[in-house]
Amino acid sequence: MAKINRIGVLTSGGDAPGMNAAIRAVTRAGINNNLEVFGIMRGYEGMIEGDIIPMNSETVSGIIQKGGTFLLTARSNRFREYEGRKEAYEQLKRFGINAVVVIGGDGSFTGANIMSSEFDIPFIGIPGTIDNDLFGTDYTIGFDTALNTVVDAVDKIRDTASSHNRIFFVEVMGREAGFVAINSGIACGAEIIMIPEEKNQIEKARRFLAERARKNKSSIILVAEGLEEGSTMEITEILKPEFPQFDMRVSILGHIQRGGSPSAKDRVIASRMGAAAVEALLDNQKCIMIGLVNDEIVQVPLNKTVKMHKAIDEALINLAEDIATFGPQK
Ligand code: F6P
Repeated sequence: MAKINRIGVLTSGGDAPGMNAAIRAVTRAGINNNLEVFGIMRGYEGMIEGDIIPMNSETVSGIIQKGGTFLLTARSNRFREYEGRKEAYEQLKRFGINAVVVIGGDGSFTGANIMSSEFDIPFIGIPGTIDNDLFGTDYTIGFDTALNTVVDAVDKIRDTASSHNRIFFVEVMGREAGFVAINSGIACGAEIIMIPEEKNQIEKARRFLAERARKNKSSIILVAEGLEEGSTMEITEILKPEFPQFDMRVSILGHIQRGGSPSAKDRVIASRMGAAAVEALLDNQKCIMIGLVNDEIVQVPLNKTVKMHKAIDEALINLAEDIATFGPQK
């Protein structure tokens, strides 16, 4: 394997608060270890187009506190095709880049894993997604900030819900995973939490509402997007006629969850992971993801993290039910 002297860094897929802190750490740790560092703009799209900029310590100054990603991001369809990846490889060669650090989620790592099996280019992944749904790491960059955004929003919704004595269905992000929902639901005292990892979520809401009818109080029902049984809107429309006594509203938090200044936790973990990614490259590692397990940095094979499923902690699901108003809703 060629000696690594020029590395590229990119962000790909959904942006997440803390990505800038990771870019900064990769850049500075790289430079301080005598590597040349290049920023690849707009994820794999920029790699294909050769939209690549030289980075130095100054380039990443003043970005640690900013949300989003200063390198911009994209979901690249062209990179899904062999031709696109070949073009990307040619561009890397043109710039003399011989290793790449990818900050992103599942889709981004799948792309990296495929490209590194086709071409001689090592990839190191840094988990960056608000979803916290990657196998092999307890934590993904952006999760803490997103949780705090959700909690802040739901606290506000609760004020108006209780003033009007309404039932609010609040939808949060998470693709097909309930990590954001279960954690933010516990943190804001949601009356019930509906997650894709569990079956019969409409029935769970139904039982809760039937109980609630006797108390006549406002409630927050936290719903993860991606429930098999339908969207939050659809579920609410099913339940409305069954409980005409309740005034029901839906609030979809949407992309507000992806923005904002990263929390201290996200900045610190992103910095640790960024430096660890450079260390891994200097150690001649290829095709691994940097993870965090029990607050220790770990290295996980990329093909493992993309193939395996991260399960939600059963203890958290049980906790949410144990401390809910009406106890277990199963
Ligand atoms: O992967 C992060 C995420 O925010 C998911 O929770 C959500 O389903 C998805 O991205 C939405 O992505 P986009 O707005 O880029 O289509």
